Amino acid sequence: MKVPVAGETLGAGELARLRAGLALQMDHYGGGRLPFVCLQARGLVQHMAALEGPDAGRVVEVMDASGGYASACLGAGHPRMQEALREGLERTGYVTDELGSLERILLLEELFGPQGRWADRFPGNAYHASGRNSGSEGLELALRLVLESGFDRRRLVPKPERAERRTILAFEGAWHGWTQGLVSLLNRRHYRMGLPLPATEGPAGLDVQFLPFGEAAHLESFFAEHGRKLAAVFVEPIQGDAGILVPPVGYLRRLAALCREHEVLLVADEVLTFAKTGRFFGMTDEQGPIPTDITVIGKSLGMGVVSTSMVIARRELSVRSSGAVSTSDLRPLTSAVMRAGIQYIASEGLVERAGPLGEELRGRLRKDVVEVFPELFQEVRGLGYMNGIELTERSAGSLSKLRARLLEAGIFVEFMAGAGRRSRGLRYVFPAMRIAPPLIAGEADLQEMVARLQRGVRKFVEAGS
Ligand SMILES: Cc1ncc(COP(=O)(O)O)c(C=O)c1O
Repeated sequence: MKVPVAGETLGAGELARLRAGLALQMDHYGGGRLPFVCLQARGLVQHMAALEGPDAGRVVEVMDASGGYASACLGAGHPRMQEALREGLERTGYVTDELGSLERILLLEELFGPQGRWADRFPGNAYHASGRNSGSEGLELALRLVLESGFDRRRLVPKPERAERRTILAFEGAWHGWTQGLVSLLNRRHYRMGLPLPATEGPAGLDVQFLPFGEAAHLESFFAEHGRKLAAVFVEPIQGDAGILVPPVGYLRRLAALCREHEVLLVADEVLTFAKTGRFFGMTDEQGPIPTDITVIGKSLGMGVVSTSMVIARRELSVRSSGAVSTSDLRPLTSAVMRAGIQYIASEGLVERAGPLGEELRGRLRKDVVEVFPELFQEVRGLGYMNGIELTERSAGSLSKLRARLLEAGIFVEFMAGAGRRSRGLRYVFPAMRIAPPLIAGEADLQEMVARLQRGVRKFVEAGS
């Protein structure tokens, strides 16, 4: 099929073919999938064809302010990625983790070796790393490391000194992934209903308790009462799916201190925050790195080119023999992509510039979107290139229409579910529009994104919402 340029219109036969092809893919949105197809993309720009409405078949040029669920940090078809893939294919091979791989060693040395980029946070003599295919799988491995840390592998009984620690603390509104073990770490009913939960009895069972995120007083009283029963805490440094909720200054450092004091493992889910907050890691404050026992990174780590995640854990945390073997643990080609991408991001200072540029972006979003349409939007939150605008009840009720108008105005954004009605008297959090552009977006791109957002929202209002 010849791909038409923006402004052209697809013929009826081509349109029918796209509709039929789309129907072959399982719809995970309960019939609410957006009626657009991306035909081709380069950098921040995607050429999309509308499938429905008066403009069906028309090809529009859309700026991407979301980066594929916040994973395509270098946009589409980046020249450095093309080179890394070509070179990687030519020379890296496919050895599994049973054997060493030069490409994998080069990556790990660059990150965790004596002069490693992240050695201040994760020195190689104290931490080791494993690769998985997705964020969920990374979190599953983290969960397993936690569980096995309390277990005597040879005798298959709990370690006497950890036997009482059967509770995991997670946060209300958290999102860690869809897989079986992780569902127990989510407290939102619609994510859990209808799915069997792991048994909590027996010597290997676990019990999960939830606290409101970002409330220091709850944390203090919970640890004082239950600290000695806790095995681990799972935390997102900024809650994503809950609506881009940034905790108060000092909260994460206090959490780390409480964990240390009570000998509780701290697991940071940085799948989403990785390379997004103006730093590589969200577990950072003005004092520097906030220590963790396990950190899981993903999404941007694969540069939008490969699907991957990495689990970085203290060396004393491991699994029984062959217990976590994965076909794709740090594949050489994946390692080559990660190394080239991280080198490029660092050499261009893309993570650092996302700090101030993100702050400017939030200022514009407040002034040009929230203040202009207060009946539709209520608050801008975020850090770096991880930003959210919370909707109001009115706009939350017409999300699909809003998204379609935005696409017609040439801008693609995603929406986070919001934390729903949270317990302990905290207010309802409505869904949030997520503006998490690829790191390659510069100042002019961000300005253009906000202008298109404003245009799209105006169209939505003019159409009577
Ligand atoms: C914080 C967080 N953890 C884990 C995941 C799961 O990652 P994946 O979709 O790669 O399995 C996500 C995905 O959105 C996420 O945002």
